[in-house]
Amino acid sequence: MPTAHPPTSNAPNATSSDYALANEDRLGFWADQAGRLDWSEPFTEVLDWSTPPFARWFVGGRLNAAYNCVDRHVEAGQGDRVALHFVGEPAGDTRDITYAQLQAEVSRAANALTALGIEAGDRVAIYMPMIPEAVVAMLACARLGAPHTVVFGGFSADALAGRIKDCQAKLVITADGGYRRGDPSPLKPAVDTAVTSCPTVSHVLVVRRTGEPVEWTPGRDVWWHDVVAAASPHHSPEMFDSEHPLFVMYTSGTTGSPKGVLHTTGGYLVQSAYSFWAVFDHRPDDVYWCTADIGWITGHTYLVYGPLANGATQVLYEGTPDTPHKGRWWEIAAELGVTTFYTAPTAIRTCMKWGDEFPAAHDLSRVRILGSVGESINPQAYEWYREHIGGGRAPVVDTWWQTETGAHMITPLPGVRSGKPGSAMTPLPGISIDIVDDDGNSVPPGQGGYLVATEPWPAMIRTIWGDDERFVETYWSRWPGYYFAGDGARRDNDGDIWLLGRVDDVMNVSGHRLSTTEIESALVSHPSVAEAAVVGASDEVTGTAVVAFVILRDSASPSDDIVEALRTHVGQQIGPIAKPRRISIVSELPKTRSGKIMRRLLRDLAEHRTTGDASTLADSDVMAQIAADLTPSDSPT
Ligand code: WTA
Repeated sequence: MPTAHPPTSNAPNATSSDYALANEDRLGFWADQAGRLDWSEPFTEVLDWSTPPFARWFVGGRLNAAYNCVDRHVEAGQGDRVALHFVGEPAGDTRDITYAQLQAEVSRAANALTALGIEAGDRVAIYMPMIPEAVVAMLACARLGAPHTVVFGGFSADALAGRIKDCQAKLVITADGGYRRGDPSPLKPAVDTAVTSCPTVSHVLVVRRTGEPVEWTPGRDVWWHDVVAAASPHHSPEMFDSEHPLFVMYTSGTTGSPKGVLHTTGGYLVQSAYSFWAVFDHRPDDVYWCTADIGWITGHTYLVYGPLANGATQVLYEGTPDTPHKGRWWEIAAELGVTTFYTAPTAIRTCMKWGDEFPAAHDLSRVRILGSVGESINPQAYEWYREHIGGGRAPVVDTWWQTETGAHMITPLPGVRSGKPGSAMTPLPGISIDIVDDDGNSVPPGQGGYLVATEPWPAMIRTIWGDDERFVETYWSRWPGYYFAGDGARRDNDGDIWLLGRVDDVMNVSGHRLSTTEIESALVSHPSVAEAAVVGASDEVTGTAVVAFVILRDSASPSDDIVEALRTHVGQQIGPIAKPRRISIVSELPKTRSGKIMRRLLRDLAEHRTTGDASTLADSDVMAQIAADLTPSDSPT
């Protein structure tokens, strides 16, 4: 077992008494944490769990999420505090935005959205680069009680259209483009294509970021600098019920179509605010930086709602870590005095590969807390992170959570307990987790099982947008009363939790969730493809790499061109991150007698292992056939 690292935070915010209090009285603990927010109407009940799995938290309470993230800090005399240190990708393109400026900007945007006909309950899609207006847009929606659905800018027009249609968005907020790897990268064309099939969209609100020419549909398209700049900087926020929808975040499930995970206001904000404060041991003079895109849940909870509810100062960076050089992140961190840094293992492994000299060239002495999210962090990357970014001092918090959990669930608390490289350690105070076997019985230490939440928690998913049945079926049907996360895990003899990866058909590529079925559907939608099977094979840098096995139609013949055409096709259907690393053209796929593809065997092939138990195959020769189909370039590298 790797060595445990001592806690290194003096007088940490959270203490071991948080665990004790929550163990004694879980709901009382969360009621106390709700005191971190301003409520216009106090709640009368902490949790209503009378119709599981449909929870209501902080029942009867009323609040406004944007007011809690912005206005109240200004009212408390913190208006001059920097909320966002924006760093654009082009050199020298920086902007500091104080809480007072953020308040004025969010109010203007809320007034502009109202003028465009947006009311409480209307859905707004956001498809933007990492610029301050993206944060402002989210908060303006929250202020009006109009649930936002932020779609990652790397998704294709088709993927965007699917999400807009599913939640019937009335407005799309976008930009002409953003900067990526030194060049302007357009966004508006994808919106133009998407909305042609989305009759619910009445307006497209466009931020001018790159100044590149864009197509314009008069009457529908509106410039942000026209309507937002002209709007009043004053806006009185309406207070909403604690269970008012805050946002819908689409994520990949085990079927072809993404699920719209619904989060509501009070519970989500309470757990976001508490976990940010406790897990990152937040202090007023901290400079925090989360590198996640706002198009993912991490960008929602730990770039917008959690830090802003705490009045934090943070970095918002538009670009990639290696533009214009591989030390860009560390240069920014040194310049702005970053104390708390939150990123994904895939990024850490990439930086590790680039070399120690890049962080070493910058003064990272203020760094005191390091966070990791998205997949288990391998001990080697953990040690490198702690040593080369954290100067051997900063504790690493490996945070396990999901789009559905809304906020951190399993993570060490810095300063409270040591961390073990590779373990997410223990549940956050107030969170109840177990690891169970097929029958739902708790498994002993050392034995692998399924990770479940045994009690509801404040930031939990409330439903799948428009599909209560799928919500119940997906998460709550396997063991009554338990939320099943889709991950495998085990406990060690100290009771610390080690995540073992997904047990379903969801892959985790560079910390991004993709479903095998979604990519298979994209492949078979190509006219040359008869059948496709997709697996995630482990990869040193990205964690998982997408590997596809494809049977072509008789009309098509195997060639490098067809493989490239299929990769491009998947990129168009879903987005570049979904493009298979490798596509092997085969003549058969391994199937059970009932026709289910045995991906496990394909994964063995993709990872260059001897294939496992194939006794349930309908045709026992098929694996030999597939192995013979593989060209030398598919062989181990
Ligand atoms: C995985 C991202 C191990 C896990 C916040 C989960 C992790 C899925 C960790 C959720 C971690 C996330 N250790 N695995 N610290 N964090 N995962 O919804 O498989 O994009 O189910 O949320 O990522 O991905 P999602």
